Amino acid sequence: MKKTVLAFSRITPPMIERLQQQFDVIVPDPKKGDIGAQFDEALPHAHGLIGAGRKLGREQLAAAVKLEVVSSVSVGYDNYDIGYFNERGLMLTNTPDVLTESTADLGFSLIMSSARRVAELDAWTKAGEWKASVGPGHFGSDVYGKTLGIVGMGNIGAAIARRGRSGFNMPVLYSGNSRKTDLEQALGAQFRSLDQLLAEADFVVLVVPLSDKTHHLISHRELALMKPGAFLINIARGPIVDEPALIQALEQGTIRGAGLDVYETEPLSDSPLFRLKNAVTLPHIGSATTQTREAMADRAVGNLTAALLGERPQDLVNPQVFKG
Ligand code: DGY
Repeated sequence: MKKTVLAFSRITPPMIERLQQQFDVIVPDPKKGDIGAQFDEALPHAHGLIGAGRKLGREQLAAAVKLEVVSSVSVGYDNYDIGYFNERGLMLTNTPDVLTESTADLGFSLIMSSARRVAELDAWTKAGEWKASVGPGHFGSDVYGKTLGIVGMGNIGAAIARRGRSGFNMPVLYSGNSRKTDLEQALGAQFRSLDQLLAEADFVVLVVPLSDKTHHLISHRELALMKPGAFLINIARGPIVDEPALIQALEQGTIRGAGLDVYETEPLSDSPLFRLKNAVTLPHIGSATTQTREAMADRAVGNLTAALLGERPQDLVNPQVFKG
């Protein structure tokens, strides 16, 4: 008998067809009513789940009695209660590597947009406000040659650092748990404590995973350490930044601006950030290009298929539960 896969998001029709060759696939359909109710109804039958953006832990998975694996179509796995997965022997897989460059592109576009006020002045132009040459009130900040501070030098952090160093002649600082001597040699990157990095960088880019340790890593004290002309870019996870503290810093001019792709609560709605011209707000699109989302779905399908066929998946987050 075929095993059952329940797909809950970010899964494309070709990927569904691929899964259907080996499994029974259930995809909740908004046309058939409430998606949540369809998910709950299918959950007890599922051997595998595939998707992203859903919190899954003890409470949500209690009814998933046949479950063997959750294949997340994301690199981050902070939505999953890994302690509970381990306790139950459930495999968790993610999709690293394939989104590194597109997420770094997005990080860099937030650097450019916030420094050069791209979104703000686009809205201003379209509103018919451009009646004479712009003056100092519309000037932005330079990027070329400014200091780039990467908080969390993993794959994505390194890809942003390469862009800054090679394309924009930016000195690169980084902070994190470990020294990256290869990047120090290749890019001249210099290690700093977080506090030192905040005090020196013109662009502080957050690329750390969310954990108990990084929750509100950036709050009032840290924002006050930044230069008044500096920008904070967050492409990691919203709760790494204390959002009310950031809003206050942007309102009071403690820092010059922010470029944000992630928020404490998503989707973001009716936030004071919407009224701040010095905040660029994007709807969590770090990996959202056609090519990258296809590559992520492909990798996630591969992981799920391997796990359900008893093979070790390529991107197993908790290898200790693999019984192969
Ligand atoms: C990830 O993969 O973790 C990105 O944030 C996209 O969700």
